[in-house]
Amino acid sequence: ICWVLIMHTGCISELWDLNRTSVFHSPSGYLGLHTMLLDEYQERLFVGGRDLVYSLSLDRVSENYRQIHWPSTPRQAEECTIKGRDADECANYIRVLHRYNRTHLLACGTGAFDPLCTFIRVGHPSEDYLFQLEWHKFERGRGRCPFDPSSSFISTLIGGELFAGLYNDYWGRDAAVLRTMGRMPHIRTEPDDERLLKEPKFVGSYMIPDNEDRDDNKVYFFFTEKALEAETGAHAIYARVGRVCVNDMGGQRMLVNKWSTFLKTRLICSVPGMNGIDTHFDELEDVFLLQTRDNKNPVIFGLFNTTSNIFRGYAICVYHIASIRAAFNGPYAHKEGPEYHWSLYEGKVPYPRPGSCASKVNGGLYGSTKDYPDEAVRFARSHPLMYQPIKPVHKRPILVKTDGKYKLKQIAVDRVEAEDGQYDVLFIGTDNGIVLKVITIYNQDTESMEEVILEEMQVFKVPVPIISMEISSKRQQLYVGSESAVAQVKFHQCDMYGTACADCCLARDPYCAWDGISCSRYYPTGMQAKRRFRRQDVRHGNAAQQCFGQQLIGEALEKTEERIVYGIEYNSTLLECTPRTLQAKVIWFVQRAHEARKEEVKTDDRIIKMDLGLLFLRLHRLDAGTYFCQTVEHSIVHIVRKITLEVVEEGRVDEMFNKDYEEDIPHKMPCPAQSSIPQASKPWYKEFLQLIGYSNFQRVEEYCEKVWCTDKRRKKLKMSPSKWKYANPQEKKARIRPEHYRLPRNVVDS
Ligand SMILES: *[C@@H]1O[C@H](CO)[C@@H](O)[C@H](O)[C@H]1NC(C)=O
Ligand SMILES: *[C@@H]1O[C@H](CO)[C@@H](O)[C@H](O)[C@H]1NC(C)=O
Ligand SMILES: *[C@@H]1O[C@H](CO)[C@@H](O)[C@H](O)[C@H]1NC(C)=O
Ligand SMILES: *[C@@H]1O[C@H](CO)[C@@H](O)[C@H](O)[C@H]1NC(C)=O
Repeated sequence: ICWVLIMHTGCISELWDLNRTSVFHSPSGYLGLHTMLLDEYQERLFVGGRDLVYSLSLDRVSENYRQIHWPSTPRQAEECTIKGRDADECANYIRVLHRYNRTHLLACGTGAFDPLCTFIRVGHPSEDYLFQLEWHKFERGRGRCPFDPSSSFISTLIGGELFAGLYNDYWGRDAAVLRTMGRMPHIRTEPDDERLLKEPKFVGSYMIPDNEDRDDNKVYFFFTEKALEAETGAHAIYARVGRVCVNDMGGQRMLVNKWSTFLKTRLICSVPGMNGIDTHFDELEDVFLLQTRDNKNPVIFGLFNTTSNIFRGYAICVYHIASIRAAFNGPYAHKEGPEYHWSLYEGKVPYPRPGSCASKVNGGLYGSTKDYPDEAVRFARSHPLMYQPIKPVHKRPILVKTDGKYKLKQIAVDRVEAEDGQYDVLFIGTDNGIVLKVITIYNQDTESMEEVILEEMQVFKVPVPIISMEISSKRQQLYVGSESAVAQVKFHQCDMYGTACADCCLARDPYCAWDGISCSRYYPTGMQAKRRFRRQDVRHGNAAQQCFGQQLIGEALEKTEERIVYGIEYNSTLLECTPRTLQAKVIWFVQRAHEARKEEVKTDDRIIKMDLGLLFLRLHRLDAGTYFCQTVEHSIVHIVRKITLEVVEEGRVDEMFNKDYEEDIPHKMPCPAQSSIPQASKPWYKEFLQLIGYSNFQRVEEYCEKVWCTDKRRKKLKMSPSKWKYANPQEKKARIRPEHYRLPRNVVDS
């Protein structure tokens, strides 16, 4: 029963009815979720909440879970309440969950404003999802976990070293970026240095390698902070990227145990406004790192809120790591003295360049940052800010939302191959239990973005804010966390788009395509050798073109294949049609040109029904029409194939090949126009080839190329006429030989 309608997709209860989702509710009623860790290796989703850690099944989060109860000690809780905190704050909120090694997770909790860390033993299914806290391994968690359950916090674990951005004291005043835990010395940002961090809100952190040299690895921090360099108003907030070298050892005489490679710059996400004044989205809400095949070149998605009082809304901007690196390789910002502004530094930059790592790639002159010359360290200390900000791809957001319908909280992205290219599907978590599934399409000509909201998925029945999202492309699942529950949702439910080709096509969901029978999961070519018949048009959603001849209502049990066959007058022609099973009886119907009625084909000694199809020994002009190959099996009637037979007058064939091709040949031949019969031209090529014979290969090829010229191809050909007429006789020869000839892609497909 539908109780609320969500857009065109139907009712929200569908998510549950369709077995597309599974929801885990904490047995204690409240989860207090703060962090989630997706572990594809263990096939578990680890969830950190209030006094609890859960291990959930990635297959089905509601089943087969394990839990660890890990509250603050009574003494901790008592001390905490005595200091004036309320009981709820004095619980133990698990905020750190990282895979530490093959057998253990690192886990840290706020422990009643007295953070603690330990390890959790985890096991595979064969070990019955072992999930045990190592009670004897507790360590103080300062520097690894915040004191305050509600303060902003990010962390990432690299080779046993924990990199964290947090408020590292009870009062929440000491904002710092730190490296702790491992064998390397503990390093942090200098305390009370507002040039480094000024009331930051930490949003995300990732290690992104620069090259193959591991000593050159860097950790990037995404945060917002009060902008020290802003000239308009003292309260400006900027979004930032900061970075440090993983192997930073600090300085020798200055910056001892402090970052000597810390740099930061502004992350811009803005739309051009009137009077040339851009509207900036500066409040970074969430950041997502989309891995590509090259782990050195991920794509970064930022979800921003605006801090403006006049303009309210959200934007999503995309950044290439290359432009982030370019900003860090660019000029430094410089402040001459207290009464000066931050400006472009044009003086000499010391060597090694501040912000660069002690690595072979950088010359290998220095084994550690401790060996850097004082001059370089001093410069680094006074120049943490880069002059150039980072601009997004296309210099504008890929999505802007100003309707005020939802607050946008979280973002996760899946990159998917569709028939007409690659799409980044955005999953955007809102404050009311809904996840938006959106694609955006950039139009080069108008330099504009089109956003297509594919679905509004009501993941939680109650309108709760979405706190955390993890994504598994491998499993095609999104894991969504709220304060009280964790849900999983499959990326797609193609059959929900209805039972008609047009509906499927109009949905423009890159995960889905019309397969001739239903709207189903689309797999890029290669993965679907058997499924050749796929209709999808994400970019335009042109159902009229894609679904031409397809049953618009979903009554077809199976697909009806369509083709055009060209026969030459007075020659023989076979209309192929073989029923799927031997039991099926075949009946041929014909709807002749200019006749509305279908009638059964009368066979005689000229038209013969064979196992392979309908054979015309001697084709007449009046045989032209649409032929339906209908099978009857177990009283189920099905039209297997629909063949349009065009009859070419005998004389015309010769005429055509003896003419200059520059003339309007398509008018002389019954050519299938690309726009009206989109798929039909494909089989025709082969049919025609058979008819004319392979000795005429080149002429057929040239003719077909011309007939198939879409406007786009025509433009291309105009620019390179050599494609048409073989200037080089060698080439011509080579191309005539069938084994050298590669059929156009669409011919192969058909
Ligand atoms: C729902 O999906 C799960 C696997 O994800 C499967 O085990 C279960 O049988 C399905 N239930 C229904 C009613 O289809
Ligand atoms: C993983 O780390 C834990 C904690 O240090 C340790 O007890 C355990 O032996 C390690 N496991 C492996 C396989 O190294
Ligand atoms: C967006 O920013 C405005 C202004 O700073 C703030 O009032 C609002 O709460 C923010 N929205 C969210 C979802 O954080
Ligand atoms: C028609 O068929 C005959 C043989 O049956 C063949 O010799 C002739 O070339 C064909 N006509 C054309 C135009 O292909």
